[in-house]
Formats: sequence, structure tokens, C-alpha cells
Amino acid sequence: MAGLEGKVAFITGAARGQGRAEAVRLAADGADILGIDICEDIASMDYPNATLAELEETKSLVEAQGRKCFVSKADTRDLAGLQRAFDEGLSFLGRVDIVIANAGIVRLSDADPADDVAVWRDIVDVNLTGTWNTVNVALPTLRSQGTGGVIVITSSSAGLRATPMLRTGAVAYTSTKTALVGLMKQLAGALAPESIRVNTVHPTGVATGMTMNAAMGKLFEAAARGEEPGMATMQNALPIEILQPEDIANAVAFLVSDQAAYITGTALPVDAGFCIR
Ligand SMILES: NC(=O)c1ccc[n+]([C@@H]2O[C@H](COP(=O)([O-])OP(=O)(O)OC[C@H]3O[C@@H](n4cnc5c(N)ncnc54)[C@H](O)[C@@H]3O)[C@@H](O)[C@H]2O)c1
Repeated sequence: MAGLEGKVAFITGAARGQGRAEAVRLAADGADILGIDICEDIASMDYPNATLAELEETKSLVEAQGRKCFVSKADTRDLAGLQRAFDEGLSFLGRVDIVIANAGIVRLSDADPADDVAVWRDIVDVNLTGTWNTVNVALPTLRSQGTGGVIVITSSSAGLRATPMLRTGAVAYTSTKTALVGLMKQLAGALAPESIRVNTVHPTGVATGMTMNAAMGKLFEAAARGEEPGMATMQNALPIEILQPEDIANAVAFLVSDQAAYITGTALPVDAGFCIR
């Protein structure tokens, strides 16, 4: 899907997984990329975040598509730092047309009860406040350009269908991913007169650093032994165990394209039927 020539996409969580796949795909479709990633671990999580080397690799992959790329290490929880990174990228790339608020974290395994508050706070801070920050640092530019724009917020199937789990991380994840639908609708309504479209995507399980790690592996092994009934409910309707980051990038590429010119305020499942099971 070409058609993004002359446009710039701001993508959070761009170092690996879906963020990287979206950076490369939108570059292939013609966009220059402004990518940020925390490139640091968060103590309450049970798997590592991406590295600076991975963020640099995303840059190389975008440049291999013949597009310009600016990357910077920034934490979406830190509004001032995120604004600095965005502003630097903006001065290099000149404009912004597309915002992909993709960075997110999860924790489904047991945490020490003493860490429960940190697990809750970190997931809320990254998934909800970080997404709000992402939109906020880019929105003044998007609006002042006066040429419309597109915002895609990465929620989850968990934002449409809860899983029967009481662990704090799972409750926080579902709560934040559901809240993103409200954030999306609020923005979509308010920004429609300026032709700025806002939608959420809701992936089912995707093979990324978030799922392909030791902690998640142990949970799925326990589910296979019948010890994790909540995990055992996490199955797609279509005969596919797990999606690839490119499957989500395909949907995002459509949403940001002119083919989706009149799609705004929608919550798009990319879930292999997960939510209808
Ligand atoms: N993988 C799945 O099964 C799945 C399913 C549904 C939704 N999602 C959502 O998709 C999005 C992308 O996740 P992914 O699957 O690519 O996982 P991932 O862990 O591979 O990628 C997330 C990226 O975000 C970065 N990040 C984390 N916290 C950050 C912060 N505070 N500031 C900046 N960057 C930060 C990480 O370093 C990492 O590069 C997330 O919002 C996630 O919740 C994932």
C-alpha cells in the first residue's frame, strides 16, 4: 500500500515487535519514521524491554527502505523527555502526520505482594498515561499543520474481552487497554472537525518480546498442565496459535492510509476471532 510519501510517522515502542514492524511497513509505504523506545527494563516487569541496539536496528531497517529515520531513547512516562525526543525528531524530519501510540507493557505472572503497587502503577503509567503523553507531545504540531492526520493507539484483545485472572498485572493490563478505547473515542470526536482520525487496534497474542520470554513460557506450560485456567481461555477462533508483528502492521498500514479516510472512532480487532470465542 503506497501513498505515504512525504508523510512522517511518530511511533513509540519502535525498537522491536509491533512497533518495529509498523516502522518498516510504513516506511515501505513511503513514510519517514520518528521512532522512540525506552530501551531500558522496568523493575516490576517479568521480561526485558528492548535495547538501544534494537532501536538502532529499526533505524537501519527503515533506511533500507529508502526512507529517513530519527530514533531516540525516551520513556513515554516522562512527558518532558518524550517532548524533547519528539521535538528533536521533528526538527530533523520537518513534520508529523501519523502517530502510532504502541508502547506498552504487561505482567501476567505472580508478583511478590510487596511489589503489587509498583506492578499496577507501572502498567497504568506506561499503557495509559504514556499513551496520553504520546498523543499530547505530537498533537499541537498535527493541529497546527492544518492538514489532518491519523492517530492509531495499540490496545489489545484485552481491551475488548477480559480474561478471568485476578493477578494485579492482568487486571491492570485489561483496565488500561479498555481505557484506551475511551481515550480514542474522546480524541476521535474532538479532532474529527480537523480531519484528524483516531482509532484503536486490538491484537490477540503476537510473537514479540512481550510473549516470547521465559515468564510467559512458564505460564503457558502451566496452562497446558491445567494449572492456569485464565491462560487456557486465551485462544483464537481461527486456527492460528499466535500472530506475527507484520499481521498487526498490515492493519495499521490500512488505518493510516487514505483507503481508511472515513474510518475514525473505531476499535479494530486484529484477533483471529479471539473476542468471539
Ligand atoms: N504481543 C502481544 O501478544 C500483544 C497483544 C495485544 C496487544 N499488545 C500490545 O502491543 C503493543 C506492542 O507490544 P509488542 O507486542 O510489540 O511487545 P514488545 O515488548 O516487543 O514491544 C513493546 C516495546 O515498547 C517498549 N516500551 C515499553 N515501555 C516503554 C515506555 N515506557 N516508553 C517507551 N517505550 C517503551 C519496549 O522496550 C518494546 O520495544 C503493546 O502496547 C502491547 O500491549 C501486544
